[in-house]
Amino acid sequence: MKVTEQIKDPIYEEMEHFEQKFSDSMSSKVALLNRITHFIVNRKGKQMRPMFVFLTAKLLGGGKVTERTYRGASVIELIHTATLVHDDVVDDSNQRRGFFSINALWKNKIAVLVGDYLLSKGLLLCIHNEDFDLLKIISVAVREMSEGELLQIEKARNLDITEEIYFEIIRQKTATLLAACCAMGAQSVSDDKEAVEQMRIFGELLGMAFQIKDDLFDYGETKIGKPTGIDIKEQKMTLPLIYTLNNVSSKERKWLIHSVKKYNTDKKRVKEVIQLVKDSGGLDYAQKRMETYRTEALDILMTFPKNAYRDSLELMVNYVITRKQ
Ligand code: IPE
Ligand code: IPE
Ligand code: MG
Ligand code: MG
Repeated sequence: MKVTEQIKDPIYEEMEHFEQKFSDSMSSKVALLNRITHFIVNRKGKQMRPMFVFLTAKLLGGGKVTERTYRGASVIELIHTATLVHDDVVDDSNQRRGFFSINALWKNKIAVLVGDYLLSKGLLLCIHNEDFDLLKIISVAVREMSEGELLQIEKARNLDITEEIYFEIIRQKTATLLAACCAMGAQSVSDDKEAVEQMRIFGELLGMAFQIKDDLFDYGETKIGKPTGIDIKEQKMTLPLIYTLNNVSSKERKWLIHSVKKYNTDKKRVKEVIQLVKDSGGLDYAQKRMETYRTEALDILMTFPKNAYRDSLELMVNYVITRKQ
């Protein structure tokens, strides 16, 4: 069995039901919108967030999930999809999930509105069912994601990012939503505040590892279904580059900053920057930091009783850092 199948094994039925509910949650009377949401449903991603929701719910709920768990999973995937649609506008990226992005096919205007629509559908799903505790978790995540994306733009403009700020950016833009998955899954079945909080922290730590992995992909050449090598072009400085800036001679540092500032669209120069990052151990360093987050996440997970759900979550954490896309 493939590791992804192994992970899904204890939540197989839940994921099947989820597909339908998720698809229904997007429907609209506007034909254009329906065409686009169909396109989205047909090009689904890895669905790691709903998997985290179901696994944490079953871990805390004695192997059971509720309708609230399904709504939690749908809300999170709706919000995640909305932010990806917007992110591709922000990053001017024309590829997503191995195909054209929404902005590439329908242009920015439509992509912005579709993202807003998905966001509102997510929030309304909570409101219609009076899941105000879930609504609170998700609203905090949405606010943090927007702040994280804006902080990233601010730092890209000034090129003055430190490691500390990088970690704050990725905590906000990515880890918060994975924290919300695990907290929501737990909260959907349990009143144990301490356990919900532990699950939130677990999700945040693995979310940090998740984004470091995503940033490492950008330095690679493998096909991952979305463009690689675009971070420097967008003047986005991620951990491998930040480490390199702090660990090379001042002459190389000046050259690097100048390259990102003035030659960010020069393919040859960007290749040289990438090579310097590799030669300076920037990728190895990021890999190490990612592994530390993995270990911290697993330490928390291991305080929960061992069962099939915990085993799957353990596999999932390892998958976050070994995945090929
Ligand atoms: C991509 O998330 C956005 C990031 C936070 C890096 P995923 O890699 O989970 O995207 P899909 O849903 O599988 O396409
Ligand atoms: C992650 O940002 C997406 C959000 C959290 C909104 P990135 O721009 O780094 O993600 P990808 O690589 O495009 O998926
Ligand atoms: Mg982005
Ligand atoms: Mg992007």
